[in-house]
Amino acid sequence: MKIIRVADYETLSSKTADLIAAQVLVKPNCILGLATGSTPIGTYEKLIEWHEKKGLDFSEVTSINLDEYVGLDSNDKNSYRFFMNYHLFEHINIVRSNTYVPNGMTKDWEKECETYDHRILQLGGIDLQLLGIGNNGHIGFNEPGETFVKNTHLVELGESTIQANSRFFETLEEVPKQAITMGIGAIMQAKKVLLIANGKEKEEIVEKAFHGPITPQVPASILQLHPDVTVICSF
Ligand code: GLP
Repeated sequence: MKIIRVADYETLSSKTADLIAAQVLVKPNCILGLATGSTPIGTYEKLIEWHEKKGLDFSEVTSINLDEYVGLDSNDKNSYRFFMNYHLFEHINIVRSNTYVPNGMTKDWEKECETYDHRILQLGGIDLQLLGIGNNGHIGFNEPGETFVKNTHLVELGESTIQANSRFFETLEEVPKQAITMGIGAIMQAKKVLLIANGKEKEEIVEKAFHGPITPQVPASILQLHPDVTVICSF
C-alpha cells in the first residue's frame, strides 16, 4: 500500500487525475470504477482538462459506478447518475451507453444487483477503482456491519451517512434511507485501487482504516489486503 500525503485539494485532484489518465493512456479500452461524493469533483475537473487540453481519449473507456440512492431517478440532481453526467460524462467523449450506474428506480433489487455483478464479470473486472471514504469508513455504500458483503446489494444507510450526506439535500428527511452498492468483492478484485480523502475530518478514519485492525466495522480496512492500493490524502 502506498499512502501519499499532498499539500492541498488541488494537488490531490491533479495527482489522482494523472493516475487515471495514465490508466486510460496505457489501456484505452480500460474499465474505470468511478465514485461520487464531493472529494472526486476536483479529479473529474482535471480529467476534463486532460480531455480538452491534451486530447485524452475516453471513446473506448467503460465506466462502472459504485452506488446509487434508492428512489432517485437520473433527472434528480442528487442521484449519482445525474452527478456523473454533470461532473464528468457530459464533458468528455465517453460513450454514454458504456457508463454504468446502478438503477435506483428498479422494482426488482435482486435482479438489478445480480445484473450489476454479472456485468462487471462480463467486462473482465475493473482495471482501476476510484474510491472516497465515508466518515464511518464506508466505501461505496458498504456500511459498517458484522460482515464484509461480497456482492452488489441493497443497503440500509446508517445514521451517520444520512447526516453526512444531508448537506446535499434541502432537508434531512429527503435523504434516501437506502442505496444499492457494489460489494466488497468487486472492489477487492479491481486490479488497482485509488482512494482519496480530503480535509482534517477524514484524518482519523483514514488512520483507522489503514493502520487499525481489519474489520467490517471499518469497511475500508479490508483494502489493507489488496495488492495494489494507493491512498492520496490532503489533511
Ligand atoms: C458517499 C458515497 C461514497 C463517498 C462518500 C464520501 O456516501 N457513497 O462513495 O466516498 O460519500 O463523500 P465525500 O467525498 O463527500 O466525503
